[in-house]
Amino acid sequence: MMSKKYLVYMAHVNVNFRRAELESLADLCGLDIDFSTYNEESPFFVVDLPDDTQASKWIKRSVLSKAIYEYWGEGKNLEELHESIKSQPFHEHYKQLYRQDSFKFEFETYRGSAKANRVEQIETFVYLGFQGKIDMKKPDQIYAIVEEYKPVSDNVGSTVPEKMFFGRLVQRSDRHAMEVYDLKKRPYKGTTSFEAELSLASANIAQVKPGSIMYDPFAGTGSFLSAGGHYGALVIGSDIDGRMIRGKGAAHNISSNFKYYGDSIQFLDVLTMDFTHNALRSNLKIDTILCDPPYGIREGIKVLGAKDPEKYIGKEEVEIHGKKSYLHRDYIPAKKPYSLDNLLDDLLQYASEGLAIGGRLAFWMPTANDENVETVIPLHSCLELKYNCVQEFHKWSRRLLVYENKGPDFKGEDNTGIKRAVSNFRDRYFANFNK
Ligand SMILES: C[S@@+](CC[C@H](N)C(=O)[O-])C[C@H]1O[C@@H](n2cnc3c(N)ncnc32)[C@H](O)[C@@H]1O
Repeated sequence: MMSKKYLVYMAHVNVNFRRAELESLADLCGLDIDFSTYNEESPFFVVDLPDDTQASKWIKRSVLSKAIYEYWGEGKNLEELHESIKSQPFHEHYKQLYRQDSFKFEFETYRGSAKANRVEQIETFVYLGFQGKIDMKKPDQIYAIVEEYKPVSDNVGSTVPEKMFFGRLVQRSDRHAMEVYDLKKRPYKGTTSFEAELSLASANIAQVKPGSIMYDPFAGTGSFLSAGGHYGALVIGSDIDGRMIRGKGAAHNISSNFKYYGDSIQFLDVLTMDFTHNALRSNLKIDTILCDPPYGIREGIKVLGAKDPEKYIGKEEVEIHGKKSYLHRDYIPAKKPYSLDNLLDDLLQYASEGLAIGGRLAFWMPTANDENVETVIPLHSCLELKYNCVQEFHKWSRRLLVYENKGPDFKGEDNTGIKRAVSNFRDRYFANFNK
């Protein structure tokens, strides 16, 4: 198959998540991309792709990339860049293709800023022979000079780039969605709300698909539901805490966030429910589960049930005004402590039964960096662990774990039921890394 060279220009943030996002989106588009030259340290990735349509489809949804360009050349300085452009086998062909189109030039700079006169620099590209008019507002083509600088030190930037790429813009990414979904502007949010950038990236890595069903069992203020809705899923959420689900009035709840984003059609519903006593019908096939389970930091993890069941014997028979007490709207059910290990085991088991084959489970798990304790990643025999992307904080970290449901025949490694290091996360958080 014929292919063309493209340059992906990535945001240099959350680098541990970038490849997972690019791979997951490529897989969603049915693209087979060679990642052998992918370099974690660099914001650039030169790849071969069939055509612009595929390139555009791939990067359109990406949050951790900035744009994809048709690759024209690269060099350590402007002279080398021109040499490279002129020596490419596709040089004459590209020049002819876009000759009559209106155009403009853009500059992208990574870790620095230029002193050079940009107009003079643009004039050095005169040999490309573009005949179209320059249009700064709606050009047919945008050409970009993408520069990489190496700062002199932490405080002193460089003004001379070390590397330059030249390309024609094919597609900008979805990075601007970060501003739309910025928590600062969100009508309904709370202390548990998850930041926009990584919630959108999580939805991409979880391969949320348009028209599919996404479920967040620990919805809280609905950050992942909003991200899933943005990528076209029909979303359902649940939370044991009815206050989260009810929000703060009609204008400040999960549903009103969807209205605010113009995505109401994506919002199926949210319900107050203990995940471990799940009321969704068991044959409901879910395409994606994306969530941030309770870490038990603010308060210990609780599920429905009595800590001391003996005390409750006969209590279900109690009637108030001729109606069983638990049927009253203001009935507050008993809750008992539960471990994160058990909750994650339940989540994996639920995913293995509720997810469609090929569907993904993605959730965030906190991990401790305080001791040399090995982090045990939960594993289930039906689920293939696809990604384990770590976000480091000062004294703790959290990771996005992503699994694909392969079904019972998969027979993968299974460690459900064992006690893992994360189980005492709360104690260790307070004792060590919250100082
Ligand atoms: C880390 S927060 C998730 C926050 C959410 N991502 C957001 O955007 O606000 C975990 C949530 O799980 C809920 N939760 C705790 N135990 C639960 C259970 N057994 N079943 C369902 N939800 C539970 C908590 O009430 C809390 O809102």
